[in-house]
Amino acid sequence: MKMMRFLVLLVLWAILGCFAPTATSKTNSSSIAKPNCNDHCGNVSIPFPFGLTKKCALNSNFSITCNTSYNPPKPFLTNSTVEVRDISVEGQLRVMKRVSKYCYNKGKEVSPSRSWYTSKKFFINQTANKFVAVGCDTFANVYAYGDDQSYRTGSNCMATCNSTQDVTNGTCSGFGCCETEIPNVARNVYYSVDSLNYYNETTDDVNNCSYAFVVQKEEFRFSSTMLTRTWDVKKVPMVLDWTISNETCLTACQGNTTCVAVNGEGYRCGCKEGYEGNPYLSPGCQDIDECANGQHNCSQNAICSNTKGGYECSCKKGYHGDGKGALGCTSSNHRLIMLVLGIAVGTITLLISCFCLYLVYRRRKSIQMKEKFFRENGGLILQQKIAQGTASSGTTRIFTAEELRKATNNYDQTRIIGQGGFGIVYKGHLLDGQTIAVKKSKVMDQTQVEQFINELIVLSQINHRNIVKLFGCCLETETPLLVYEFISNGTLSEHLYSKDKASTIPWPIRLRIATETAEVLSYLHSAASPPIIHRDVKPANILLDNNYTTKVSDFGASRLVLQDETALMTMVQGTFGYLDPEYMQTHQLTEKSDIYSFGVVLLELLTGRRAVFYNGPVEERSLSEHFLSSLKTNQLFKILDVNIVCEGNTDELQEIALLAKRCLNVKGEDRPTMKEVAMELGGFRRATKHPWTNNSHTSMESQALLTDPPNAFGYDATFSITTTEYDSLKHHMELPVTAGR
Ligand SMILES: *[C@@H]1O[C@H](CO)[C@@H](O)[C@H](O)[C@H]1NC(C)=O
Repeated sequence: MKMMRFLVLLVLWAILGCFAPTATSKTNSSSIAKPNCNDHCGNVSIPFPFGLTKKCALNSNFSITCNTSYNPPKPFLTNSTVEVRDISVEGQLRVMKRVSKYCYNKGKEVSPSRSWYTSKKFFINQTANKFVAVGCDTFANVYAYGDDQSYRTGSNCMATCNSTQDVTNGTCSGFGCCETEIPNVARNVYYSVDSLNYYNETTDDVNNCSYAFVVQKEEFRFSSTMLTRTWDVKKVPMVLDWTISNETCLTACQGNTTCVAVNGEGYRCGCKEGYEGNPYLSPGCQDIDECANGQHNCSQNAICSNTKGGYECSCKKGYHGDGKGALGCTSSNHRLIMLVLGIAVGTITLLISCFCLYLVYRRRKSIQMKEKFFRENGGLILQQKIAQGTASSGTTRIFTAEELRKATNNYDQTRIIGQGGFGIVYKGHLLDGQTIAVKKSKVMDQTQVEQFINELIVLSQINHRNIVKLFGCCLETETPLLVYEFISNGTLSEHLYSKDKASTIPWPIRLRIATETAEVLSYLHSAASPPIIHRDVKPANILLDNNYTTKVSDFGASRLVLQDETALMTMVQGTFGYLDPEYMQTHQLTEKSDIYSFGVVLLELLTGRRAVFYNGPVEERSLSEHFLSSLKTNQLFKILDVNIVCEGNTDELQEIALLAKRCLNVKGEDRPTMKEVAMELGGFRRATKHPWTNNSHTSMESQALLTDPPNAFGYDATFSITTTEYDSLKHHMELPVTAGR
């Protein structure tokens, strides 16, 4: 702001300086001439050092003669015909100078063709003047001379045209008019003008005359009339510089002034900054009262006080600041508000930045957590397996946490469809409309994560019609999530023990459920290598779809049995009531343990009673013991479910009861294999003509069961694990456990 104002002032000052020759000297009360000296001649001010008499001028160089025979009177340079137009105390004067004219009329040259100006006192101002030639057949020269004619520099100028139509008003570029700079700073100039071709090619509307002159730049504007006879100019204004000598400077410059050297021309006196007036006239320059004349930039609420050579601004009471410029003074209240506002804005900005940083941190943390969980949850193993193509023929899909959260309506309570051995199962709907079951761990426990990974690995290895299908998993959450096909008809346990459903399962369907379950276990035990032990066979883990097709689920406790390492697995996985009594001694779960559990399930199908029944007499609490004692005392039909006993199946029921008894042998080695059990049960199904065997698929399967056992169970025949895969699988299965510790 201050800078701008200063620049504007500077430019104004420069412009004023340029136009100084035209500006008339001050006509204010303070005198510009010496006391008792006339300061005017006609309309022209005569400031000291100029004067109209010898006494009134500084020296003879500055003497002006006032010719009072004119009205108004006209000033002339002493002893000359050079008329003075005006004088500025800053160092210029303007004089009227004759033009050089050449005419050619009827074969005759008229008028002098040369002109010159020569002066011992003053210099031709090089920048304020220019050399101009006007005419239609014109050639002009200008020369600048030094004092003693020691140097001479010149330039020339040519103007041509045919008629006034060729020229443009205001343009002096060779058509009817030509201009050039004065070649040098000089006390003397000489110029001449001539015709090139005696106006042979000009039309009648031009006057066959040529003109040349040195003229003040601002005072000359070319016009087409200058080429016609109506134009008759004799003199034009010219700007001269006046200076004083160095010695004179020291004595001539008065108070508050400086002596300034003018490049190559001499010296002048000048007012110091902040002063004005005539520096040659005693007592010298006067202080400018900037406060009074408004030449200050004090603020609105500031007090301006004048000083010698300048001024000062100070804020009024209650305001603060340097007092200069638009915002130089601000009130204390304003300052306080600004301060408070500044602090507020700063604080808010800081808070927003912190919040943003926090969000970024949260986001990054969340991604890190997801990655961590993914690693901990065996995601890398699974990815590797999928890449190797060993995981469930490429159908294992990795779900995102967000996808499953949406599918289960953020794990809504109403979506819970079951509480599995190691987690809660939610019903969910994927965006593509598929219904799924999502199994989520109940508590955050590394051993549970291990169960999930077990189940994941086991299920991703097997593909069986009667095993609940694993769609995929999500490993980004703290505990992994498993995604299954949704089985619509609930568990076998519900069907057997809820009063309204019990009567709806007739014996043939129970037999089919038993057979299919046996097939699944047989498949797990014998078809897979190494064998898989389910470890938690019970009605709650046997799901049924709308056709009562069995879907064995909950492989959380399942393990691939590694021959030498079975002893290491000492954790009790099975549920009380289904647990192999041999386990109590050996602390080992084997295929035989599954067979025992299956025997209990078979009993439940036969009797419709729970494996453990606390509400009855003590001897009836354990179903297996109660069954075995009933069998001993030949009271089998007393404990069989009344819903299934009908004419014609008593033999069958008795044989199956004996099969169950074999399964429940205390010694594992006395129990049949699961394959034998499955085949025996299949045999019963085939031997009996039941209405539900009309299903061609089932009957065909039953036939296949007998004819081609190894491939008969509907499992994926391509399933096998090679020795190397076995080793890597073994390694992977141990990884989640070690990672957790
Ligand atoms: C040039 O100016 C003169 C008067 O100064 C005028 O008479 C003439 O018409 C002007 N010419 C053009 C082309 O404007």
